[in-house]
Amino acid sequence: MSERTLDARLWLVVPAAGQGRRMGAELPKQYLTLADRPVMAHTLARLHRAFPAARLCLCLAPDDAHFDPAWVPFARWRRSDGGDERADSVRQALAQIADEAHDNDWVLVHDVARPCVSIDDLARLYQILQQDAVGGLLAAPAADTMKRDDGEGRVAATESRLGLWHAQTPQGFRYGLLRRALDEAARRGLTITDEASAVEELGFSPRLVPGRRDNIKITHPEDLALAGHVLAAQRAEAAPSPGSAHEENS
Ligand code: C5P
Repeated sequence: MSERTLDARLWLVVPAAGQGRRMGAELPKQYLTLADRPVMAHTLARLHRAFPAARLCLCLAPDDAHFDPAWVPFARWRRSDGGDERADSVRQALAQIADEAHDNDWVLVHDVARPCVSIDDLARLYQILQQDAVGGLLAAPAADTMKRDDGEGRVAATESRLGLWHAQTPQGFRYGLLRRALDEAARRGLTITDEASAVEELGFSPRLVPGRRDNIKITHPEDLALAGHVLAAQRAEAAPSPGSAHEENS
């Protein structure tokens, strides 16, 4: 391990300032109940199990009335105000931690709406990224046949899925590079839906780290039940043997 790596600290930025309108629920999706706890509590617990010593910056809507600090298991954490879009929230979080963060530090950005991310994938991603000059993201190869529509609800073309990936989170980059990428994207007025695309705009190629397909993002109403099934299946998978006591995977 290089000295550069040893010097670097790990920051977790969790954008949680969305309203989740596609869920059509009364509460933002990060506050909906999943297996007896809010989605946010699951997500933060998983991140903490993988990275107990990391520093957390949690992006919350300035008028958020639902957040409970009891859900945060990290010793070192702070909150930052979310912005209009996800990229604005992440950008504001990076500005918020500027007093402590060094250009060389690693920042993993993880959507609060992905509570099923596996601890193994988190650890593996971080391990791989530390050997990487650019950074990268968890991703899964596209499995379905891909159709492009004609704008009127009919198929215009079938696209090759060869080489296509679903971008997941976490996405991890060095603090200095990520901040420059997001600032530059904002200056150019680009629409940025993930950190990697901002870094790509600077001419870099982030590493694709294959992750489990069950790292789903809760977006639509049916996703909440699906996430519940995923958590239950993961608990069963983690159980040492049928019938014996086992540790929760969250
Ligand atoms: O809406 P979507 O599912 O793409 O949001 C992805 C993540 O970004 C969620 O965790 C959401 O809370 C967060 N977000 C945010 N600030 C916004 C919009 C979304 O932190 N303005």
